[in-house]
Amino acid sequence: MTILVDIEKQLFGLQTKSSLYVLGVDQLGLVRHVYWGERLESLEYFEMNPIHGITSNERPIDMTPEEYPVFGGLRYKEHCLKVNFSDMTRELVYRYAGFTANDETLVIHLEDVYYDFKIDLHYVVHEEYDLLERFVRIKNDSTDVVEVEKIHSAQFHVPSENLNFSNYHGHWGCEARLYREKVEFSKIVFENRRGISTHHHNPFFVLDKQATETSGEVYFGALKLTGNFSGVVEPTPYGETLVQLGINSHDFCLSLEAGEEFVAPAIIYGYTTGGFEKMSHILHRFARSKMLREELRPVLYNSWEATGFNVRCDEQIKLAHRAALMGAELFVIDDGWFGQRHGEEAGLGDWYVNPEKFPEGLAPLIKAVKAEGMKFGIWIEPEMVSPNSWLYQQHPDWIYHYETRDNDLARHQYVLNVAKPEVKQFIYEMIDELLTTYEIDYIKWDANRPITQAGAKKDVWYRHIENVYDIVRRIKDRHPTVLIEACASGGGRIDYGALSVFDDVWTSDNTDAYDRLSIQKGFSYIYPTKAMRAWVTDSPNFISRREIPLLFRFHVAMMGSLGIGANVLEFNEDEMELSKELIAEYKEIRPLIQDGDFYRLENSSNQDYQFYQYVKDDEAVLFAFLPKTQLPHRGARIKLRGLDRFSAYEVQFSNHQVKKSGDYLMKVGLDVFLLGDYESEIIKINKI
Ligand code: DGJ
Repeated sequence: MTILVDIEKQLFGLQTKSSLYVLGVDQLGLVRHVYWGERLESLEYFEMNPIHGITSNERPIDMTPEEYPVFGGLRYKEHCLKVNFSDMTRELVYRYAGFTANDETLVIHLEDVYYDFKIDLHYVVHEEYDLLERFVRIKNDSTDVVEVEKIHSAQFHVPSENLNFSNYHGHWGCEARLYREKVEFSKIVFENRRGISTHHHNPFFVLDKQATETSGEVYFGALKLTGNFSGVVEPTPYGETLVQLGINSHDFCLSLEAGEEFVAPAIIYGYTTGGFEKMSHILHRFARSKMLREELRPVLYNSWEATGFNVRCDEQIKLAHRAALMGAELFVIDDGWFGQRHGEEAGLGDWYVNPEKFPEGLAPLIKAVKAEGMKFGIWIEPEMVSPNSWLYQQHPDWIYHYETRDNDLARHQYVLNVAKPEVKQFIYEMIDELLTTYEIDYIKWDANRPITQAGAKKDVWYRHIENVYDIVRRIKDRHPTVLIEACASGGGRIDYGALSVFDDVWTSDNTDAYDRLSIQKGFSYIYPTKAMRAWVTDSPNFISRREIPLLFRFHVAMMGSLGIGANVLEFNEDEMELSKELIAEYKEIRPLIQDGDFYRLENSSNQDYQFYQYVKDDEAVLFAFLPKTQLPHRGARIKLRGLDRFSAYEVQFSNHQVKKSGDYLMKVGLDVFLLGDYESEIIKINKI
């Protein structure tokens, strides 16, 4: 039983493997949050006691921890929904109108007491994944238009003492910087207003009560939305902290015509007493099993860092040959193959093959790539157009703009108004034609500037991304084997909205292996390593100018879905040989890396080690990194995780082997000793 219902007390419980979430309808007819925490087997002892203030100064409606507060009445905390009726009544007054439930879903029906306006709160239980999912559906059943000024997808409540909030901050080349701050008395707001992407904050919340990596209470949720989201954490004066996530109400307004409904993006959310590691496992397992395509991601070669915009058929064929020799399974040609695209200044929108660079079209390159036994992939940036392009000359009105203003340029490009049906159709047909004409197995879908001058309709921020998702889904329906990667100036589209439709994401344009260690670690808290594209690139790195040995660069990139982005035409024989060995090794451990559980291990030594472990069934692999050796140059004893206590394991280092029990490896630990700068090792641990 995953949905518990007590009709008499008007209480509802959502049970996962180890948690319980309880809500109910109270004496005022408000849908009240009751409990979120460890699993109980029944609702028997839960009560819906009336809420009283100490004096009449405190209004019960403002004190009630509502599941979905609306704007209206004596409510002064954050609300989730604000609508304007056509007679300019700008408040909602809802009443509970019943529920429907089946094995996995509970829907609480609410309706306005006067206007024909409905709100359905949907709860989905993913019991075996220890995860819940929520979304809201609103419906205008009146005969007039209703304006929706704000619609957040859900509100949650967490007991307020000793709470920390975590999210990402960052910018281009510096994504997924996890930060953690104490929740005190002021609101915490985190959001994106850029329309396309966000490197800066991310649509998830983590609230923990002094949790560690492996213990403690963690409440978390992640919104399935790319683009303009907002989240707020508000400690209330009444002993709990509320948290909301949803579409950003910044410059937002949605018109609901008579009879029209709107479903806001869903939030997956969960609770654990097992610390951040458990939170990550819950999210990763759900993403791998219920969202991402099952197959293992291929080892790719991408020529962007090697050749930039200067792509030429003969040189790409040479690169493809070297990539295949190493063991790459997919060759991706990045920006520059189309239109008059010789730099950032021109060509976006003109998705025809550049005849100077490819005199005989793409066919010779694709043929060569396929003859090497690889798949073929291509870069596009379909939501954009260059002023200097045929497409813009034909359709200057297709971009976001105002007639009376100069058009905003960023990265020398404009954003197409994808909310327009004709633009949406153009993009769909362009991609469909590319995939129908050529044997393309992989698309890297980029988006390199934010939206401005969004036009008259304030729902475009959302309609834009809704249409992008729709195009991707339709393309996948028609071309079911094609993998599609989401990219936005590096890691600007890392979110569960993107992962609901795309197959993986480009993590960051920062490919410096040392920087990547922390970017990848940040990524791993919320997002699965299977979706994390990671490349081995040249040294010194183009951003950091840091020189890092090839082995270390490979080891870091092997922690996600491996790619090579170096100029392999410049590799010497030793580098080619090493690359070949490491790609072969990656293929061996790939099922663990992409489909196993990921552990961030504690470095208990006084050295700068970083340890990460993957476990799947009877196998585990440990990645050990020592970016810089320092006094007193010691090894580390590292406690492994996720092994079987009662089994023996063979531990294979690069130059020796030991046998230990799972119990020993997890309680006493494994001795690892690296010496030097940018030292690294992959250690394999197999059940005997
Ligand atoms: C930004 C991406 O993050 C890069 O990997 C590359 O594809 C460039 N765009 C191409 O313009």
